[in-house]
Amino acid sequence: MSVLSSSVAAVVFDAYGTLFDVHSAVGRHAAAIGAEAGALSDLWRVKQLEYTWVLSLAGRSASFQTLTERALDYALARFPGIDPGLRDALLDAYRDLDAYAEVAGTLAALKARGLRTAVLSNGDAPMLARATASAGIDGLLDALISVERAGIFKTSPRAYALVEQRLGLAPGEVVFCSSNRWDVAGAAAFGFVPVWINRSGAPDEYPDLAPRAVLASLDGLLEA
Ligand code: LAC
Repeated sequence: MSVLSSSVAAVVFDAYGTLFDVHSAVGRHAAAIGAEAGALSDLWRVKQLEYTWVLSLAGRSASFQTLTERALDYALARFPGIDPGLRDALLDAYRDLDAYAEVAGTLAALKARGLRTAVLSNGDAPMLARATASAGIDGLLDALISVERAGIFKTSPRAYALVEQRLGLAPGEVVFCSSNRWDVAGAAAFGFVPVWINRSGAPDEYPDLAPRAVLASLDGLLEA
């Protein structure tokens, strides 16, 4: 059965890593950072995500912007050879990340097919508003849904339930696309139709919470 079956009314996207290239912030300053740029970017991302899971399990919350800053501070501390004076420039770049090349065309095609489009992200509402506006895709999204309102990060079902509440749709009417395999697992557990955008060619995991389809990018989503 096609992913975009007639019972599907909306396609909802994760933001960071799925619509936006989280490594484009470090990429813009790669020359000033030096040989450890890739490792810095990877650790920044890993720590940012770890903080969301640890706080959620501990029953605590924080803004994603704050966790993004703390994760960068940790990563810079782990790489003392990198100029810590780049901190503010990196955080500025993170506010205006590059969208992947096929994002705008895919969103426009989904809307032309009569589907609703939205973002469900751990990002705070101001982060999502700024990132989608600076990437020029804000007009192609019907809703920007931040988990902030749930007070807990993905993969809590309370975070995914915000989509139901905001769009007024049952989970089975929603296709959820994420490049993050852990997020696909959470979406599958919640009952969305999950699609894994496996941009990095990563091996599969979470066998009990499988995607309905796997794509290398958003290209081909309408035919999947
Ligand atoms: C997001 C991050 C975690 O929710 O990818 O957008």
